[in-house]
Amino acid sequence: MFTYHNKNVVVVGGTSGINLQIAISFAEAGANVAVASRSEEKVKHAVSQLQQANCDGKHLGLTFDVRDESAVIAGFEQVEAEYKYIDVLVSGAAGNFPASAAKLSSNGFKSVMDIDLLGSFQVLKNAYGLLNKPNANIIQISAPQAYIAMPLQAHVCAAKAGVDMLTRTLAIEWGMEGVRINSIVPGPIADTEGFNRLAPSEELQAQVASSVPLQRNGAKQDIANAALFLGSEMASYITGVVLPVDGGWSLGGASTAMSQLGKMAAKHGL
Ligand code: COA
Ligand code: NAP
Repeated sequence: MFTYHNKNVVVVGGTSGINLQIAISFAEAGANVAVASRSEEKVKHAVSQLQQANCDGKHLGLTFDVRDESAVIAGFEQVEAEYKYIDVLVSGAAGNFPASAAKLSSNGFKSVMDIDLLGSFQVLKNAYGLLNKPNANIIQISAPQAYIAMPLQAHVCAAKAGVDMLTRTLAIEWGMEGVRINSIVPGPIADTEGFNRLAPSEELQAQVASSVPLQRNGAKQDIANAALFLGSEMASYITGVVLPVDGGWSLGGASTAMSQLGKMAAKHGL
């Protein structure tokens, strides 16, 4: 449905889960895709998946930690050498674990802030010069915790709220040069590290599904489809939007379900 031939797409945190599915979907639509994350092994595996999805694409694997700005800069220098410019940047590197605020160390809080919020800033800022203006765009991968309070998630709630405010602020600053930036907020997505950490049993995941108006947990492809739309010309007048892709979960069910999950995790001493 969407064509990305001759487009250059960079997916930071694109080596597993939701973001890898986004990267594969852009490759299937014809793009050259670069993926970045910390683990060299995951990067290699992701690039081989991209090659299977589009054997004509010029795919690139980058190994860096978004917390290390000089490594981020070096990663984008590699992108510049191979692609010259970026059409679509997806920023989705994140870390999460359930922990009560009273027990969480400052370094635990800081590590999630550093990955999700400072890391996103370092990615956006250092990619900006490479964006193919005026029609480039950025997609940030946020989370419901950005606007729905959840016990044991103070660190993630604070970090992802910041991610969405970056989206809204930069839509104004960078819109003047024709750059769009939007956030996608995935609901509970099956078969992912993030969901498995918060709802670590089939029973809990089924309970969550029943709290979603559409009565199912999401698929990684649901999020990739939204990214293909937002990245395309079809979305050329959409910027600064925080878009839930969650089967209606954020309309009400999410607050109760997240609160219950938090209480259950607390019972288990997390
Ligand atoms: N509960 C409480 N604190 C925790 C924790 C947990 N489950 N896991 C880590 N921490 C704390 C550590 O104790 C440490 O703090 P300290 O120095 O005061 O002891 C701090 O967080 C950093 O831990 P460390 O293991 O050194 O971090 P890291 O940089 O290697 O890894 C994480 C970052 C912790 C976010 C790790 O979970 C990760 O790499 N996650 C990526 C995958 C992921 O979360 N996917 C889901 C995306 S939504
Ligand atoms: P995941 O598979 O663990 O994906 C996280 C990705 O980020 C991996 O590629 C990981 O690779 C990379 N990463 C982590 N820390 C990094 C760092 N410091 N520097 C560079 N890369 C780093 O998790 P997921 O569940 O699919 O989540 C993907 C995104 O969706 C996240 O932004 C998450 O907040 C969001 N989300 C998920 C859900 C869900 O239901 N799963 C719901 C809402 C929002 P390395 O380990 O190699 O670094």
